[in-house]
Amino acid sequence: MKPVEIKKDIYWVGAVDWNSRDFHGYSLSPRGTTYNAFLVKDEKVTLFDTVKSDFTGEFNCAIAQACGGEPHIDYVVVNHLEPDHAGCLDCIVEKYKPEKIFVSPMGEKALRTFYHDSANWPCEVVVTPTGASTSIGKRSVRFIETRMLHWPDNMISYIPEDTIAFSSDAFGQNWASTERFADEVNAHDLDAALADYYANIVLPYSPVVLKTLDALAGMKLDIDMLCPDHGLIWRGRDAVAHALDSYREFALQKPKKKAVIIYDTMWHSTEQMARAICDGLADEGVSVRIMSVKHNHHSAIMREVFDAAAVLVGSPTHNNGILPIVADVLTYMKGLRPQNKIGAAFGSFGWSGECVKILTEHLQGMGMEIIEPAVKVKNRPSHATFQECFDLGKKVGAAINAKLSA
Ligand code: FEO
Repeated sequence: MKPVEIKKDIYWVGAVDWNSRDFHGYSLSPRGTTYNAFLVKDEKVTLFDTVKSDFTGEFNCAIAQACGGEPHIDYVVVNHLEPDHAGCLDCIVEKYKPEKIFVSPMGEKALRTFYHDSANWPCEVVVTPTGASTSIGKRSVRFIETRMLHWPDNMISYIPEDTIAFSSDAFGQNWASTERFADEVNAHDLDAALADYYANIVLPYSPVVLKTLDALAGMKLDIDMLCPDHGLIWRGRDAVAHALDSYREFALQKPKKKAVIIYDTMWHSTEQMARAICDGLADEGVSVRIMSVKHNHHSAIMREVFDAAAVLVGSPTHNNGILPIVADVLTYMKGLRPQNKIGAAFGSFGWSGECVKILTEHLQGMGMEIIEPAVKVKNRPSHATFQECFDLGKKVGAAINAKLSA
């Protein structure tokens, strides 16, 4: 890739992955993604993060172009050890033989277990809770530990002389493009990508996000360029404030007047119930998304659940349980720890009918406020049971309205 000078003597040297559709193996990335890395040319040429190993050749080419002449790297800052950012670290260490590799305390531990031959690497563990600094020449780099944003090792690096921060996974988006800056693309689409990334990657760490935002505010860092390791760079104080404010809003998880009905079906009875429940919710003025798990990827479902006030889940009873892809979605959802949700269950059955009990237990396990009675229909819904479904939708809708107006 061709490097891009984003500030004087600071270069984007990352890679654009146009074909990524299965980010980290579990989340949709319909627009592809990028692995951003940055090179600062100072007395010590310093590289911030690397790229996924598939892009090592192009990455070395970008470094060579940014360095001009004989490429070399004095320092490497490893903000995060996940392989999309440190996947070619061994190649970089081998090729450039840096004097120092800066890592967080947890980063050092991760580095030793990802790279089993790293005993002789010149690692320097840098982070203190309030941020340690090191000089790279005219500039200094301040390291701010951000444990569990996204892994225990993450940190943000800040250069005060350039008012620039390299934020690792935080504030990123899955967005492959020729543009490098957020202000060069459609703002609405980018905000949707930012929210999608948060809902599927960052959501379980929302308490850490709030703590980090407060800590950054307390440090009174002047940031006019915020560089995540995925997607576009936030340029200018307004754009940086927008990214920070969006993360605060996401982390607070205030629900909207919206419900998501998630279901799978065998002979369309549970599906018909979903539509009747939808009518009841809509009758209460709630915006509804009906999402068949056969037609929607679990990360697309999670994007809708993220800002919804209620989640209603339906499955027929299958082998004394629920259909497997409903269980898949519920497992994925539970791991992302959505907060402040109302939940309800429904489903059809032929003989044993355990579905709603199991679904309700799943929703309770996520701390949801359960609206009962769940609706259970033997074989096909009748006029009477369609009415029960409608009534369940009304009841959930009323609970949403009461919660949002409290
Ligand atoms: Fe983009 Fe946690 O890796």
